[in-house]
Amino acid sequence: MIQLEKMMIEGGRPLKGEVKISGSKNATLPILAATLLTDEPCVVDNVPQLRDTKTMLRLIESLGKKVVVEGNRVRISQHGPLKTVADYKMVSTMRGSFCVLGPLLAKMKKAKVSLPGGCVIGVRPVDLHLKGLKAMGTKIDVEGGYVIARAKQLKGDLIYLGGTFGSSVLATANLMMAAVLAQGTTVIECAACEPEVEDLANFLIKMGAQIQGQGSPRLVIKGVKRLHGAEFRISPDRIETGTYILMAVATGSTITIRDVNESQLLVLIDKLQEHGVRFSKKGDALTVQCQKRRFPVSVTTYPYPGFPTDLQAQFMAVMALTPGVSVIEDKVFPDRFMHIAELNRMGAQIRRETNAAVIQGVKQLYGAPVMASDLRASAALVIAGLAAQGKTEIQRIYHLERGYEHLDEKLKGLGAKVWREKG
Ligand code: EPZ
Repeated sequence: MIQLEKMMIEGGRPLKGEVKISGSKNATLPILAATLLTDEPCVVDNVPQLRDTKTMLRLIESLGKKVVVEGNRVRISQHGPLKTVADYKMVSTMRGSFCVLGPLLAKMKKAKVSLPGGCVIGVRPVDLHLKGLKAMGTKIDVEGGYVIARAKQLKGDLIYLGGTFGSSVLATANLMMAAVLAQGTTVIECAACEPEVEDLANFLIKMGAQIQGQGSPRLVIKGVKRLHGAEFRISPDRIETGTYILMAVATGSTITIRDVNESQLLVLIDKLQEHGVRFSKKGDALTVQCQKRRFPVSVTTYPYPGFPTDLQAQFMAVMALTPGVSVIEDKVFPDRFMHIAELNRMGAQIRRETNAAVIQGVKQLYGAPVMASDLRASAALVIAGLAAQGKTEIQRIYHLERGYEHLDEKLKGLGAKVWREKG
C-alpha cells in the first residue's frame, strides 16, 4: 500500500555543504534486465535503492532469478529455468520493465510482456521496440494488453530505429539485448546515445557480447552463442546530478557535488554558465557557485547530447525565479508540462503556448500545498519549495521515491529544512 505521506519544505534558505550522487536509475533498470541473458551469477554495484529498482528486482525474481541485495550491491543468480511472462501489475507501475522483452526473447525464444501504460508525460508507445524485433525475425501478437513474442532464431539485420521524436532509449536497449545472442550482425542506425545505453553496452561487453559504437547513433552488434556472468559498477546518475545543481541555482547557493561525471552534463552546464553560474571541478567533485546577476535562458530538449527532457521541469523551476522571459520546448515529450500548474500555484508566471512554455520570471515564489504528478515534475516542486518563501507541502511523494535515493537525508545534509507528515 503506498503510504500517503507528504514532504514538507521550509524554503527561502541557502543550501551549503556537499552531496554525493547515487548510481543511475536509468542505467540500472536495463542492466538488471540484461542479467536474464545468462544463467551465471552477476554482481551489480552502486545500484540505487529506489522504488523503481526494487520493482525491477521483484520482476526478475518473478522470472526465476535469485536476488540478494546487500546495500547498493545486488547479487543475481539463477535457480531453475526462466519464466517468460512479465505481468501487468509489474509492468504497469514502471515502464522500464518493458525492457525485459529483448533479453527474454534472446534467451528463451519467447516472451509475454504486458504493454506499459501511458503516463502523465506522454502516450509512451512501443512501436519502435516491436518494429526492431520484427526485423530480427520475431513473430509479434498483441493480445489483451500483452505483447506475445516468439522467435525460433533471432537474426541480425540493419535496422533504422528513429521515430517521430528521434531515437528511443529503451527501444535501443531492448534491441541491443536481443541482438547480442542473435545469429549474425545487427546494425542499429539512429540508436540512442544516452550514457545509460552506453553503460548497458559496457555491461553486455563484460558478459562477452560483441558491441561497437555505444554512445554513438550507430550500434554494431555481432551475435555470440552465449554470455557469461559479470560484475559491473553503475555510473553516477546524471539526472540526479542535474537536479542538485538546479537546487543550488534556484536557492542562490554554493554547494559541492561528489561522484559527478560532468562530461555527461555539458549542455546543462553550458546553459547555466549563460545564466550566470560558475562551476569548478576537483577530482570527481563539482562545485556550483551562484552569482547575484542571473539571466533568463531558453532551452529545447532533444535526445542526448541535447538538453535532457528529464531536466526540463527542474530547469523551468529555476527560470520561474529569473528576471526576464524564457521559453522551454520539449521535443521529446511535447506534453511534459504537468508541473506548470503546480509552479503557478506557488506564484510562478508560466503560460503554455502550443508546444512551449513561456516563463515570465518573478522575484519570489511562495510555499503552498502542491501535488506531485511524475518523477521529474516532483523534483521541480522540491526545487521551487527550497527557493520559496514559507512552507511547501508536496503530496504523492512516492513519485519522488522512484528516482531519488535518500532524498530527505541528502537535502538535510545540504542544510535544507525538510520533514515528512502523514498525507
Ligand atoms: C527513457 O524512457 C527514460 N526512462 C525516461 O526517463 C526518459 O525521459 C526517456 O528515456 C527520454 O530520455 C528510462 O530509461 C527507464 P524513449 P523511454 O523511448 O526509453 C517516443 C525518468 O524520469 N517513442 O527514449 O521510454 C516516445 O514517445 C524517465 O527517469 C516512440 O514513438 O523513452 C518519446 O516521445 C521518464 N515509439 C520519444 O520516443 C517507441 O517505440 C523518446 O522516448 C518508443 C518511444
